[in-house]
Amino acid sequence: MADDFALNPPPEGIEDRPNGMAGRVLLGGPVTLVTTTWRGKPNVAPVSWHMPLSAKPPVVGIAIGQERHTAEMVRHAQEFAINVPARPLLHHVQYLGALSGEHVDKFEATQLETFPARTITAPLVAGCCAWIECQVVEAYPIGDHVLFAGLVTAVRVDPASFEDRWLVGDPEKRPLHFLAANQYSTLNGVLEARLPRDFEAPERVLRDRIAEELELTREARERREEAVGELREEIRRGHAVDPAALDELAKSGIEVSPDDLIDLSKGIVLGG
Ligand SMILES: Cc1cc2nc3c(=O)[nH]c(=O)nc-3n(C[C@H](O)[C@H](O)[C@H](O)COP(=O)(O)O)c2cc1C
Repeated sequence: MADDFALNPPPEGIEDRPNGMAGRVLLGGPVTLVTTTWRGKPNVAPVSWHMPLSAKPPVVGIAIGQERHTAEMVRHAQEFAINVPARPLLHHVQYLGALSGEHVDKFEATQLETFPARTITAPLVAGCCAWIECQVVEAYPIGDHVLFAGLVTAVRVDPASFEDRWLVGDPEKRPLHFLAANQYSTLNGVLEARLPRDFEAPERVLRDRIAEELELTREARERREEAVGELREEIRRGHAVDPAALDELAKSGIEVSPDDLIDLSKGIVLGG
């Protein structure tokens, strides 16, 4: 079996990328704003390289460029806060990444509101959807970064964003996910995988599940075609079609393709 694996050619169409792209491939977690205070001066910097490191005790890590002012501050303060900005802070995040606390008071420059942390002196940033306070327990220099491992000393969340997981509800309450350069994304839905129960025949179970998925996709396509067909018929009969009907289609999970929208919009009579 293992030999068969080794003999398989790579899937068609896959492409090489420089090794340096590994970090970007792994991006996708929420971008954070790391806050620190040293000698009475607070600072804040966007950080997307972060990870859980231990569950018991809870320890999380942030990888900070060795030369960054934030690294210097965390080395001295031995504490930091991870603030998870919500969607409305998009432009602040980008801006804060272009300034260094070595030269600029970023809180002054951005007028970001703050409030006190519970267990550390670094301020917390308002307008975020979660906050993690940490005491540094280890600092590992790795290449040009230093991985600060922080024992978690407090966690607070905005319950409109996070209950015991990200809710992915109100778009304004979703965290931002850094992709590259000035590009970000937000989570757009929750998918629920079936819980495996039959461990006897995983191949068969997976085949059945995939067949069910395909069936669901087929049904969704048929429902969409039916709904769009009904709207077309209304237009053909010269009836007014409320644009809200398209919204309703979208809300009920029926996807309308851009081509359909163009077709239908030709017949839409506003206010009808
Ligand atoms: C979205 C985003 C994510 C970033 N992630 C990191 C990171 O994980 N680690 C890091 O050292 N710098 C990261 N940076 C760069 C720093 O935030 C940036 O150099 C900042 O100016 C450093 O501020 P400081 O000089 O006050 O420490 C990121 C920047 C942006 C915009």
